[in-house]
Amino acid sequence: MNQDVSALRKFVSPEIVFGAGSRKAVANFASNFGARHVFLVSDPGVEQAGWVAEIVDILMAAGLRVTVFTGVSPNPKVDEVMAGAELYRSSECDVIVAIGGGSPMDCAKGIGIVSAHGRNILEFEGVDTITSPSPPMILIPTTAGTSADVSQFAIISDPNRRFKFSIISKAVVPDAALIDPEVTETMDGFLTACTGVDAMVHAIEAFVSTGSGPLTDTHALEAIRLINRHLEPLVANTSNPYLREQVMLASMQAGLAFSNAILGAVHAMSHSLGGYLDLPHGLCNALLLEHVVAFNFPFAEDRFRKVAEAMDIDTRGMNKTEIKKRLMNRIIELKRTVGLESRLAELGVSVSDIPYLSGFALQDPCILTNPRKSSLRDVQVVYEEAL
Ligand SMILES: [Fe+2]
Repeated sequence: MNQDVSALRKFVSPEIVFGAGSRKAVANFASNFGARHVFLVSDPGVEQAGWVAEIVDILMAAGLRVTVFTGVSPNPKVDEVMAGAELYRSSECDVIVAIGGGSPMDCAKGIGIVSAHGRNILEFEGVDTITSPSPPMILIPTTAGTSADVSQFAIISDPNRRFKFSIISKAVVPDAALIDPEVTETMDGFLTACTGVDAMVHAIEAFVSTGSGPLTDTHALEAIRLINRHLEPLVANTSNPYLREQVMLASMQAGLAFSNAILGAVHAMSHSLGGYLDLPHGLCNALLLEHVVAFNFPFAEDRFRKVAEAMDIDTRGMNKTEIKKRLMNRIIELKRTVGLESRLAELGVSVSDIPYLSGFALQDPCILTNPRKSSLRDVQVVYEEAL
């Protein structure tokens, strides 16, 4: 048989429970995974919002012991993963639960990897580097955007290199994702905007990725459609439960799409920015998005036409130049409405940082599935345009 294996596609996903109140199933899942002593990962903000205490109560009411670890900062660091793994080991825990945004969830994935291998997390950078299965893992996202709860990605910051590195493996897909829109109600407008635009970038990059295919396309397009319609009203009214649910659903679908189709230059460049300057991931993506779309557009015109249509742009009768202009304008309008308008220079990026940032962006695995091959100079120019 003469078959082109590069055209084959696979799709991995955790067991997902979606809907208001789904977090309350955490004890059932933990017990089914054989838990006696749960290691609960979160961060101080989520703890302050009251979600950690609630999960502890639910687990303890089911007769489980719980050790809580909240030593996670935004952009989780190598040392935090190692400290968490040491506490997991010394407490003799057997199941990991995380409740929080991308940072606690990625840190929990890192703790699982280190616990399974007994080696430093730095040794697992890259694709398919994991040889032993992590402990059972249940993730409960409190933001609608990062989708670490469904993805094959763990992103860890290495402060020594000022670099965020990616671990990509189906071994970091959790066993269960309890996706509960109720826990996103403690997000403010800015975090809602940052994480919602991150989800939009996931969907767009997954749809134009060279790893895209029929298993991920429908998820990506539906996510674009939902975010385009619901993110702006949600940021204006963050307490609306219907809008929260719609954006959470979009985030989940974007996550399933990008986890399997991988991403592109926005994420490669944004990981580099986030590692270098410790900036919020969603904000970095937002500032880069239209510049990367402009760079990629000629190399994926038909795909971007479908993206534009999912953003409710009627492309009938339009030529490619018009579609590109309308799509760029809509992206800029959406960013402006949700309050993410600044430029990289306002975040402290200077021209002299660009060669360094570009070098690291080219080492990020996400650059490999970008629809347009990118040279060092290409990446530098896109950063300069976003400056
Ligand atoms: Fe992202």
